[in-house]
Amino acid sequence: MSTQPRGWQQEADRLANVSIERGDPTGWFEQLYAAGESGEVTMAWDRSQAQPLLAQWTRAADLDGTGHRAVVVGCGLGADAEHLATLGFTTTAFDLSPTAIRTASSRNPDSTVDYRVANLFGLPEEWRSSFDLVVETYTVQALPRDLRERAVSAVSELVAPGGTLVAIQAVRTSDDDGSGPPWPLTRDEIASFARWGLREIALEEHRDADGSARWRAEFTR
Ligand SMILES: C[S@@+](CC[C@H](N)C(=O)[O-])C[C@H]1O[C@@H](n2cnc3c(N)ncnc32)[C@H](O)[C@@H]1O
Repeated sequence: MSTQPRGWQQEADRLANVSIERGDPTGWFEQLYAAGESGEVTMAWDRSQAQPLLAQWTRAADLDGTGHRAVVVGCGLGADAEHLATLGFTTTAFDLSPTAIRTASSRNPDSTVDYRVANLFGLPEEWRSSFDLVVETYTVQALPRDLRERAVSAVSELVAPGGTLVAIQAVRTSDDDGSGPPWPLTRDEIASFARWGLREIALEEHRDADGSARWRAEFTR
């Protein structure tokens, strides 16, 4: 008789707490994806379609990425990156987790996306200021608040002159006890990308299909 894997959320909380207590606030991502790969829990952040607010944004802008470079930060299983690649962008997508990157690549065998294992806190120098479109979905909020400023500045540094950053994050509500993960963002926190050489174009609060509040923010350099 086959047993169903447990849901990943509880395991995420457990692994994150252990990892953070050990002084390693990002170690749990690989452990969680590995547990998903082995079937111990369901695969975390598993979706095959672009995040709806991103898809809506690219549709509204009628984007043609031909001749432009895009990067997806903390790309997980690759759905947002695949979406940008179908719009014609030369797309790089990176994640700290080797298992996430291996899974994204193997799920998309014909992909043109350049999937890389890389840490936001130590990116290749040649990526600095070199992407016309930077997409960041739920990565900053997945990091504890004491890393927020570093994470926001590292994401901002990827944007080329004249380029665009789209950031999609959960909205921090009054009932959030701060225990995380995730650690949703206040309006000031989502707006803080503008402190790193970027200019705010739009900052909107939306509702997901399940009623959760999300920021979608757009900046340019
Ligand atoms: C909440 S998940 C979101 C994944 C994906 N963006 C999505 O929306 O489905 C956060 C992702 O960020 C990655 N991540 C966390 N810290 C990172 C870092 N320092 N550098 C690169 N990726 C990181 C994790 O491995 C994980 O895939």
